[in-house]
Amino acid sequence: MSVPASKTASPVDSPRIPALSDFSVRLIAWQREHGRHDLPWQNTRDPYRIWLSEIMLQQTQVSTVIPYYARFLARFPDVAALAAAPADDVMTLWAGLGYYTRARNLHRCAQVVVEQHGGQFPNSVEALAELPGIGRSTAAAIASFAYGVRATILDGNVKRVLARVFGVEGFPGEKKVENGMWLLAESLLPVSASDDDISAYTQGLMDFGATLCARGKPDCVRCPFAADCVANVTGRQRELPAARPKKTVPTRRTWMLLLRDGDTVMLEKRPPSGIWGGLWSLPEAVDEAALKQLARDFGASDQVSPLAPLTHVFTHFKLDIEPRIAEFDRSSKHAAARDADTVWISLNELDAYGVPAPVRKLLEGLQGSLI
Ligand code: ADE
Repeated sequence: MSVPASKTASPVDSPRIPALSDFSVRLIAWQREHGRHDLPWQNTRDPYRIWLSEIMLQQTQVSTVIPYYARFLARFPDVAALAAAPADDVMTLWAGLGYYTRARNLHRCAQVVVEQHGGQFPNSVEALAELPGIGRSTAAAIASFAYGVRATILDGNVKRVLARVFGVEGFPGEKKVENGMWLLAESLLPVSASDDDISAYTQGLMDFGATLCARGKPDCVRCPFAADCVANVTGRQRELPAARPKKTVPTRRTWMLLLRDGDTVMLEKRPPSGIWGGLWSLPEAVDEAALKQLARDFGASDQVSPLAPLTHVFTHFKLDIEPRIAEFDRSSKHAAARDADTVWISLNELDAYGVPAPVRKLLEGLQGSLI
């Protein structure tokens, strides 16, 4: 007796998927009936708006992005306006969204589009993926939404859907598994699709992954693939996709100087690259002794007092912050000096500066207690 192909080879080995040859048809039908249709970046074919939303939505939830997206568009209505803006203005509007490399790339990308593409976003996945901050999946999302190009996306949500429906084993962050998923995703694209179909399909992948096939609690009862989904049929929704192999994230510790003068505090501009590049933050030292020296160098009086520590979690490491507060000594020799990369601000001016989220939290915690 011959064994069906689906039992001998996982879809990653072979992109043939006999049981779900109508995956795209079912997904498009589901999207039209149950998907999202009124997000602020939908119902437009403007590549600028689509690109801006896709960059903001990388690693960030829709509800967080919506107000940022509105503020950005109000301030920079088109790619030329964004390209011409000072970097500080872009960082200030981005502050709080996190992953600040995105903001720097966003700005550079706008400039490249203006300088090298005459202000028009290119319409092929390959050319889009050459632009700063646009990876393969984001390029495909932009090309399909803006230009109706038949291209597949593969973000975290889509990986989860594919792992569950097709029973793809292995951690999707691993290159080999991911490569197999790209092949699978490409094989699933609708065969002959209108521009509207391809948009609905791409949005369907996103919506289905974000809502029905959610990470914690997939709604298999309402799922159009329930009868064929490997995870559902075998009860492995919790195991698919496989988790990232355990790795402990390293912890770094930093001492931050909160130098105050009356009701103002001193902020220092961080170098353009590295974490929080280009944002306004507090001066940092590697330990308590270095912090005290730094405080003296900036003209603090001798009294340096601890504030409650806080921890900030990045993708690849944890940062333990030890804040210390000191009073500026107006009679110090530093009083006359004003560095170009330091500013003194009162706490109610914070909104005008791009300040990293944990530093902002620390400063907001002091609001009202500085006299
Ligand atoms: N996540 C990434 N792109 C998205 C989009 N266009 N709509 C909703 N969520 C998304």
